[in-house]
Amino acid sequence: MKRNKMVAGNWKMHFGPSKAAEFAEELRINILDTHGVSVILCPPFLALKTVFDVVNGSELKVGAQNMHWEESGAFTGEITAAMIQETGTEYVILGHSERRHVFAESDEWINKKVQRSLKSGLIPILCVGEKIEEREAGETEQVIARQLRDGLKGISASEMETVILAYEPVWAIGTGLTATPEQAIAVHEFIRGALKTLYSEAVAESTWILYGGSVKPDNTQGLLSNKDIDGALVGGASMKLDSFKGIIDAAGAIE
Ligand code: 13P
Repeated sequence: MKRNKMVAGNWKMHFGPSKAAEFAEELRINILDTHGVSVILCPPFLALKTVFDVVNGSELKVGAQNMHWEESGAFTGEITAAMIQETGTEYVILGHSERRHVFAESDEWINKKVQRSLKSGLIPILCVGEKIEEREAGETEQVIARQLRDGLKGISASEMETVILAYEPVWAIGTGLTATPEQAIAVHEFIRGALKTLYSEAVAESTWILYGGSVKPDNTQGLLSNKDIDGALVGGASMKLDSFKGIIDAAGAIE
């Protein structure tokens, strides 16, 4: 099954409302043709609305980087799915490795967030990935299998039509170390196998699985030309016009 490519830019804790809108405007003007690639901009919460207002009506979509699973309550500093949606945002990154490892988010929490995002109509981009010590100990598949099983607990096959996955090896994030296409392909194939076991062949085939970790224009083609790698979740290189556009162009040039 052929899936369109997707490129999502995770701006992490960079760009406030004005700077983010300015950069989104630059992207909107310069990325008039996405060559069929779905492009999603994920600014910090405070910039969701200003970025949405700039890209509304264009090919560019907006995603948040996190959310809470409850609908309201005494959760100081947190944000609900409904608040995110009020800004026009359609996607939300969940279980990013920085949330897991810097903010100690558990698979159970991440699962609650995935469930809430689906109930609310936000499209989740669920991230999974192993740490370097786990890879070196030969535990990559075990870790990914657990993150998928626990993160997707209670999610039905029909809900899976909306779920996007992202494989981000923690050791490749922000380090300049990219997984080789062979390493990435092996894990993407493993994820499809796990989806087949958890759901069905149809779900395994139709789910978008992005790769993230030091994606740049010059390694995009090597990674994304494999049929099991449906796109890229980009950090550093998504915050400069030339490199982000270069990645989208490279993804769009893949037959
Ligand atoms: P880098 O592209 O900077 O390695 O970040 C990847 C990432 O964490 C995207 O979510």
